Amino acid sequence: MMAQKIVTLITGAEKGLGLLTAKALSKKGQAIVIGALDEDAAKQAVAEITADGGEASYVKLDVTNHDQVTAAGKYVADKYGYLTTLINNAGIVTDGRHTPVDVPMADLRKEFDVNFFGSMDVSQTMVPLLKQAENAQIINLSSNMGSLGLATDPSFPFYNFYSVGYGASKAAVNFETVCFSKALKDDGIAVNSVNPGFSDTAFGGRNTNDPKPAGMQTADEGAAQIIKMASRSPQTDTATFTENAGMLPW
Ligand SMILES: NC(=O)c1ccc[n+]([C@@H]2O[C@H](COP(=O)([O-])OP(=O)(O)OC[C@H]3O[C@@H](n4cnc5c(N)ncnc54)[C@H](OP(=O)(O)O)[C@@H]3O)[C@@H](O)[C@H]2O)c1
Repeated sequence: MMAQKIVTLITGAEKGLGLLTAKALSKKGQAIVIGALDEDAAKQAVAEITADGGEASYVKLDVTNHDQVTAAGKYVADKYGYLTTLINNAGIVTDGRHTPVDVPMADLRKEFDVNFFGSMDVSQTMVPLLKQAENAQIINLSSNMGSLGLATDPSFPFYNFYSVGYGASKAAVNFETVCFSKALKDDGIAVNSVNPGFSDTAFGGRNTNDPKPAGMQTADEGAAQIIKMASRSPQTDTATFTENAGMLPW
């Protein structure tokens, strides 16, 4: 029997690490569905992947909009009938310049809305499609800023950096990973968190023409662990939190 084509849905993949991941996975023969907030950028991304011989399409997807999440599930169901890999990549940071004492509540709510509630909604919606696939998996984009182990380790380079809403929302994403991995283990669906690391993208409104701050890696380095995890078949590990250098503490 022919192996099923790997179908990969990546949220927020019209730019940044998601786009690099989409391009790399399409080169490995995976069919890519870009879940896109910015449709113009998504059209451009699809054109680039297709021109390179890959298979890609996009579906409009604001992960905070439940109707769009439902419609994205229907889009994948109608087009492929299953989903092999879901990469919950869409993410925001809005509170980087605040301390926990002065951070506006609106920032905290926005970060949780996209980073945690958005990925929860997309994952719940895609589970029936993941169950139809061979070697299915969910990869949740987390962050070392969401690691309680690192946040309490004085040798962590970002020990004195706050961003409580972003960090807490990514810690919540890690808990989501652990809970989904247990709930889907008997279905053979792996669920893992990945930290891309501090990477040269427009994340948080950064101008990518600005000089790179100390410790910032290239966007290609940032995408490498996501690509590695999304290239594994069959899935082996579940409930892990990794980066290029290996395992991270939760
Ligand atoms: N870059 C880093 O240093 C770093 C470090 C650790 C973890 N991460 C994580 O890596 C992931 C990708 O980040 P990146 O560096 O590639 O940043 P990016 O270039 O800003 O990409 C994030 C993508 O998510 C999209 N997005 C934002 N809100 C959305 C929503 N409500 N629905 C759907 N898509 C939405 C963005 O669209 P718009 O641009 O149109 O808003 C953008 O396409 C994020 O989850 C981030 O937390 C990044």
